[in-house]
Amino acid sequence: MINDFIYDIPVRVYFGRDQLKNLGAELKKHGTRVLMTYGGGSIKRMGLYDRVVKEIKAAGLELFELSGIEPNPRIGSVREGARMCKQHNIDVLLAVGGGSTIDATKFIAAGACSDLDPWDFLDYSKQAPIEKALPIVTILTLAATGSEMDSGGVISNPETKDKNGRLAPALLPKASFLDPTNTFTVSPYQTACGAADMMSHIIEVYFNMNQDLYMLDCFMEGLMKTIIKYAPVAMKEPENYEARANLMWTSSWAINGFVDGGKQLAWSCHPMEHELSAIYDITHGLGLAILTPRWMKYCLDETTVSKYVQFGVNVFGIDASLEPMQIANLAIEKLSDFLFNTLGLKSTLPEVGIDETHFAVMARKSVGGGTLHGFKPLQQADVEQIFKMCMQ
Ligand code: NZQ
Ligand code: ZN
Repeated sequence: MINDFIYDIPVRVYFGRDQLKNLGAELKKHGTRVLMTYGGGSIKRMGLYDRVVKEIKAAGLELFELSGIEPNPRIGSVREGARMCKQHNIDVLLAVGGGSTIDATKFIAAGACSDLDPWDFLDYSKQAPIEKALPIVTILTLAATGSEMDSGGVISNPETKDKNGRLAPALLPKASFLDPTNTFTVSPYQTACGAADMMSHIIEVYFNMNQDLYMLDCFMEGLMKTIIKYAPVAMKEPENYEARANLMWTSSWAINGFVDGGKQLAWSCHPMEHELSAIYDITHGLGLAILTPRWMKYCLDETTVSKYVQFGVNVFGIDASLEPMQIANLAIEKLSDFLFNTLGLKSTLPEVGIDETHFAVMARKSVGGGTLHGFKPLQQADVEQIFKMCMQ
């Protein structure tokens, strides 16, 4: 059955090489006092920082800065950013970086408009309402998470060992600058992790036994083929504009809500991965790459095989005349080959320093202490089994 849905993605996108000339005018729409947020320094090394500062000064805006936002961003950075917004009466936030910087900025924007501790928005037992946030503009430097065009963010709390996500319309960026040349300096490893992340965002929605809109399935197959075609090119030729542009626009469209089309199933690999990166601080896309083929194997049976056949035939070009189970297993092999051989990502948990110590607690938290109603319903024991499958 095709569900009703609302399509509403009000993010203005400036795409291409020469868009930063519009930055000053875009920021001015929202005020004059700008807090620029960024990570550990990549934007300085690539020269983007100087260019952004120049545009802000030329527009006559007042600039404040928060640097050092961590990969797997911490609640401490969010708290500091919210404090700065209040202290300096900030009007608009400018996030320059990857998903971590943008995610942290979203909760800084919400924290700035509230007397609550920002963790209250993310604590699953509290879920404090997010009604207001300062306006956010982003300049994306890494194609992966889609945070530049979605209303969500994920923040780590080292004290509680939680990594929690939250969606709220108020967190949507007002505008995002997507210049593929800003991703030329992304390492082959981060390019690979970004590709695995985008791939997973699509797979989480595509693997669904009903609520399918044929048009959206075709669209998702096109996005997956784009990742498979261009990620290896970008890894080998970091300054290949065509490859970087295709990956960048795919990252946004994989998760901006368009492909959902009313589908209501929970995601499966993401909640599991967030538990891995909460405790072990691994790169999100790497964790997803390890989990996804095992999860697919675990969920494959007579009731689900038709989706794997569709995926295998339409995305990997597997011969449609083979037996359905054979196609399904070949599809999982092809996906594994792409992730672990073509992209060169590590393929098991021990290789990234994870053993069985925390499997039970991570599995319990992944399913929220009950059942995760995803492609196949998963309970704690199921997730523990999937983690075990990732040991070799
Ligand atoms: O900190 P800097 O110095 O900027 O370096 C970063 C960081 O070390 C570097 N980098 C970014 N752009 C670069 C660059 N290096 C060279 N050249 C450039 N142009 O890359 C490293 C990783 O950056 P990060 O922002 O952490 O990566 P990513 O964009 O993959 O973000 C990952 C975070 O987003 C969350 C993940 O859980 C993780 O915390 N997610 C957010 C989502 C969302 N908002 O919708 C959905 C995702 O599923 C995901 O959960
Ligand atoms: Zn992701």
